[in-house]
Amino acid sequence: MVTVPEPVAPVGHLALVGLMGSGKTAVGRVLADRLRRRHVDLDRAITQLTGRSIGVIFHEGGESTFRDLEAQSLVLQLAAGDPIVLSTGGGVLGRGENCAVLAADSTVVWLRARPETLVDRVGDGVGRPLLEGRNALGVLRDLADDRDPAYERAANVAVDTDGLTVGQVVDAVLDVLTDVGLGCPEALAGSTVDGAGGRS
Ligand code: S3P
Repeated sequence: MVTVPEPVAPVGHLALVGLMGSGKTAVGRVLADRLRRRHVDLDRAITQLTGRSIGVIFHEGGESTFRDLEAQSLVLQLAAGDPIVLSTGGGVLGRGENCAVLAADSTVVWLRARPETLVDRVGDGVGRPLLEGRNALGVLRDLADDRDPAYERAANVAVDTDGLTVGQVVDAVLDVLTDVGLGCPEALAGSTVDGAGGRS
Protein backbone atom coordinates (compact mmCIF):
# COMPACT_ATOMS: atom_id res chain seq x y z
CA MET A 1 0.00 0.00 0.00
CA VAL A 2 1.27 3.46 -0.86
CA THR A 3 0.87 6.14 1.79
CA VAL A 4 0.48 9.64 0.40
CA PRO A 5 2.08 12.12 2.80
CA GLU A 6 -0.10 14.91 4.14
CA PRO A 7 1.00 18.26 2.67
CA VAL A 8 2.01 20.77 5.31
CA ALA A 9 0.30 24.14 5.68
CA PRO A 10 2.13 27.22 4.41
CA VAL A 11 4.45 28.44 7.09
CA GLY A 12 3.16 31.67 8.52
CA HIS A 13 1.56 34.23 6.28
CA LEU A 14 1.04 33.78 2.55
CA ALA A 15 2.28 36.88 0.71
CA LEU A 16 1.70 37.64 -2.96
CA VAL A 17 4.28 39.73 -4.80
CA GLY A 18 4.51 40.87 -8.41
CA LEU A 19 4.12 43.87 -10.65
CA MET A 20 1.03 46.05 -10.95
CA GLY A 21 -1.59 44.07 -12.84
CA SER A 22 -0.23 40.69 -11.82
CA GLY A 23 -3.46 39.90 -9.97
CA LYS A 24 -2.27 40.15 -6.37
CA THR A 25 -5.46 41.68 -4.97
CA ALA A 26 -7.99 39.60 -6.90
CA VAL A 27 -6.06 36.35 -6.40
CA GLY A 28 -5.37 37.13 -2.75
CA ARG A 29 -9.05 37.60 -2.03
CA VAL A 30 -9.96 34.17 -3.43
CA LEU A 31 -6.93 32.45 -1.92
CA ALA A 32 -7.90 33.77 1.50
CA ASP A 33 -11.39 32.41 0.99
CA ARG A 34 -10.03 29.00 0.00
CA LEU A 35 -7.62 28.92 2.94
CA ARG A 36 -10.18 30.39 5.37
CA ARG A 37 -7.75 33.12 6.22
CA ARG A 38 -8.15 36.86 6.53
CA HIS A 39 -7.17 38.79 3.39
CA VAL A 40 -5.19 42.00 3.72
CA ASP A 41 -4.43 44.25 0.78
CA LEU A 42 -1.44 46.37 1.73
CA ASP A 43 -2.44 49.41 -0.35
CA ARG A 44 -5.89 49.30 1.20
CA ALA A 45 -4.37 49.01 4.68
CA ILE A 46 -2.32 52.14 3.93
CA THR A 47 -5.37 54.09 2.80
CA GLN A 48 -7.25 52.97 5.93
CA LEU A 49 -4.32 53.92 8.16
CA THR A 50 -3.92 57.38 6.65
CA GLY A 51 -7.42 58.19 5.43
CA ARG A 52 -5.83 59.15 2.09
CA SER A 53 -5.76 57.43 -1.28
CA ILE A 54 -2.48 56.12 -2.70
CA GLY A 55 -2.68 58.84 -5.36
CA VAL A 56 -3.04 61.61 -2.76
CA ILE A 57 -0.17 60.20 -0.67
CA PHE A 58 2.13 60.22 -3.72
CA HIS A 59 0.93 63.66 -4.76
CA GLU A 60 1.34 65.28 -1.32
CA GLY A 61 4.40 63.52 0.07
CA GLY A 62 6.07 61.93 -2.92
CA GLU A 63 7.02 58.30 -3.37
CA SER A 64 9.32 58.23 -0.33
CA THR A 65 6.42 59.08 2.01
CA PHE A 66 4.41 56.29 0.44
CA ARG A 67 7.31 53.85 0.85
CA ASP A 68 7.65 54.77 4.54
CA LEU A 69 3.95 54.11 5.09
CA GLU A 70 4.19 50.89 3.10
CA ALA A 71 7.05 49.62 5.29
CA GLN A 72 5.19 50.55 8.50
CA SER A 73 1.97 48.93 7.32
CA LEU A 74 3.78 45.76 6.28
CA VAL A 75 5.18 45.30 9.79
CA LEU A 76 1.80 46.11 11.36
CA GLN A 77 -0.12 43.66 9.19
CA LEU A 78 2.35 40.80 9.56
CA ALA A 79 2.32 41.25 13.32
CA ALA A 80 -1.20 39.80 13.28
CA GLY A 81 -1.39 36.64 15.33
CA ASP A 82 -3.36 34.70 12.77
CA PRO A 83 -1.76 33.71 9.45
CA ILE A 84 -3.14 35.97 6.73
CA VAL A 85 -3.07 36.16 2.95
CA LEU A 86 -1.33 39.42 2.09
CA SER A 87 -1.54 41.16 -1.28
CA THR A 88 1.46 43.49 -1.38
CA GLY A 89 2.03 46.50 -3.63
CA GLY A 90 4.29 45.95 -6.62
CA GLY A 91 7.18 47.96 -5.19
CA VAL A 92 7.28 46.44 -1.72
CA LEU A 93 10.58 44.62 -2.26
CA GLY A 94 12.37 47.85 -3.13
CA ARG A 95 13.40 48.18 0.51
CA GLY A 96 15.65 45.57 2.05
CA GLU A 97 13.88 45.84 5.40
CA ASN A 98 10.61 44.74 3.74
CA CYS A 99 12.35 41.73 2.15
CA ALA A 100 13.64 40.74 5.58
CA VAL A 101 10.21 41.14 7.21
CA LEU A 102 8.61 38.96 4.53
CA ALA A 103 11.37 36.35 4.67
CA ALA A 104 10.97 36.05 8.45
CA ASP A 105 7.53 34.54 8.60
CA SER A 106 5.84 34.36 5.20
CA THR A 107 5.58 32.00 2.29
CA VAL A 108 6.07 34.28 -0.70
CA VAL A 109 4.38 33.67 -4.05
CA TRP A 110 5.43 35.64 -7.14
CA LEU A 111 2.62 36.20 -9.64
CA ARG A 112 4.38 36.65 -12.99
CA ALA A 113 2.99 38.06 -16.22
CA ARG A 114 4.33 39.52 -19.45
CA PRO A 115 4.24 43.34 -19.59
CA GLU A 116 1.65 43.11 -22.39
CA THR A 117 -0.65 41.14 -20.08
CA LEU A 118 -0.08 43.59 -17.23
CA VAL A 119 -1.00 46.53 -19.46
CA ASP A 120 -4.26 44.85 -20.47
CA ARG A 121 -5.14 44.39 -16.82
CA VAL A 122 -4.22 47.84 -15.48
CA GLY A 123 -6.16 49.65 -18.22
CA ASP A 124 -5.66 53.40 -18.00
CA GLY A 125 -3.62 53.10 -14.79
CA VAL A 126 -5.98 55.26 -12.73
CA GLY A 127 -5.12 54.99 -9.03
CA ARG A 128 -1.59 53.89 -9.82
CA PRO A 129 0.60 56.99 -9.64
CA LEU A 130 3.60 55.35 -11.32
CA LEU A 131 1.51 54.76 -14.46
CA GLU A 132 -0.68 57.84 -14.66
CA GLY A 133 -0.03 59.94 -17.76
CA ARG A 134 2.82 57.67 -18.85
CA ASN A 135 3.35 54.93 -21.37
CA ALA A 136 2.22 52.00 -19.22
CA LEU A 137 3.89 49.35 -21.36
CA GLY A 138 7.25 51.12 -21.24
CA VAL A 139 7.01 51.71 -17.48
CA LEU A 140 6.05 48.11 -16.78
CA ARG A 141 8.86 46.78 -18.98
CA ASP A 142 11.36 48.93 -17.08
CA LEU A 143 9.91 47.90 -13.72
CA ALA A 144 10.12 44.24 -14.73
CA ASP A 145 13.81 44.68 -15.59
CA ASP A 146 14.44 46.41 -12.26
CA ARG A 147 12.33 44.28 -9.98
CA ASP A 148 12.26 40.74 -11.34
CA PRO A 149 15.54 39.80 -9.63
CA ALA A 150 14.11 40.88 -6.26
CA TYR A 151 10.85 38.99 -6.83
CA GLU A 152 12.86 35.93 -7.77
CA ARG A 153 15.05 36.16 -4.67
CA ALA A 154 12.14 36.71 -2.30
CA ALA A 155 9.71 34.14 -3.69
CA ASN A 156 9.36 30.55 -2.53
CA VAL A 157 7.39 29.80 -5.70
CA ALA A 158 6.37 31.59 -8.91
CA VAL A 159 3.22 31.22 -11.00
CA ASP A 160 2.84 32.39 -14.62
CA THR A 161 -0.54 34.04 -14.89
CA ASP A 162 -0.70 34.97 -18.58
CA GLY A 163 -4.01 33.84 -20.07
CA LEU A 164 -5.32 32.50 -16.75
CA THR A 165 -8.47 33.52 -14.90
CA VAL A 166 -8.28 34.43 -11.22
CA GLY A 167 -9.64 31.01 -10.27
CA GLN A 168 -7.05 29.26 -12.43
CA VAL A 169 -4.25 31.27 -10.84
CA VAL A 170 -5.54 30.36 -7.37
CA ASP A 171 -5.55 26.67 -8.31
CA ALA A 172 -2.05 27.00 -9.77
CA VAL A 173 -0.78 28.65 -6.58
CA LEU A 174 -2.25 25.93 -4.36
CA ASP A 175 -0.88 23.21 -6.67
CA VAL A 176 2.65 24.59 -6.78
CA LEU A 177 2.72 25.09 -3.00
CA THR A 178 1.72 21.46 -2.57
CA ASP A 179 4.32 20.36 -5.15
CA VAL A 180 7.13 22.02 -3.23
CA GLY A 181 5.95 20.77 0.14
CA LEU A 182 4.32 24.01 1.26
CA GLY A 183 0.83 22.71 0.56
CA CYS A 184 -2.43 23.96 1.92
CA PRO A 185 -4.54 21.11 3.30
CA GLU A 186 -7.15 23.56 4.54
CA ALA A 187 -7.86 24.81 1.00
CA LEU A 188 -11.39 24.10 -0.06
CA ALA A 189 -12.16 22.50 -3.39
CA GLY A 190 -13.79 24.77 -5.97
CA SER A 191 -13.88 28.54 -6.14
CA THR A 192 -16.92 30.75 -6.48
CA VAL A 193 -15.08 33.81 -7.77
CA ASP A 194 -13.53 33.96 -11.20
CA GLY A 195 -12.71 36.37 -14.01
CA ALA A 196 -9.87 38.48 -15.34
CA GLY A 197 -7.03 39.96 -13.29
CA GLY A 198 -8.78 43.15 -12.21
CA ARG A 199 -7.21 45.36 -9.54
CA SER A 200 -3.93 43.86 -8.53
C1 S3P B 1 3.20 50.31 -6.85
C2 S3P B 1 2.16 49.44 -6.96
C3 S3P B 1 0.82 49.71 -6.43
C4 S3P B 1 0.91 50.70 -5.27
C5 S3P B 1 1.67 51.92 -5.65
C6 S3P B 1 3.10 51.60 -6.11
C7 S3P B 1 4.51 49.95 -7.42
O1 S3P B 1 0.20 48.53 -5.98
O2 S3P B 1 1.51 50.10 -4.16
O3 S3P B 1 0.97 52.58 -6.67
O4 S3P B 1 5.52 50.54 -7.03
O5 S3P B 1 4.55 49.01 -8.26
P1 S3P B 1 -0.31 47.35 -7.00
O6 S3P B 1 0.88 46.54 -7.35
O7 S3P B 1 -1.30 46.63 -6.17
O8 S3P B 1 -0.93 48.04 -8.17
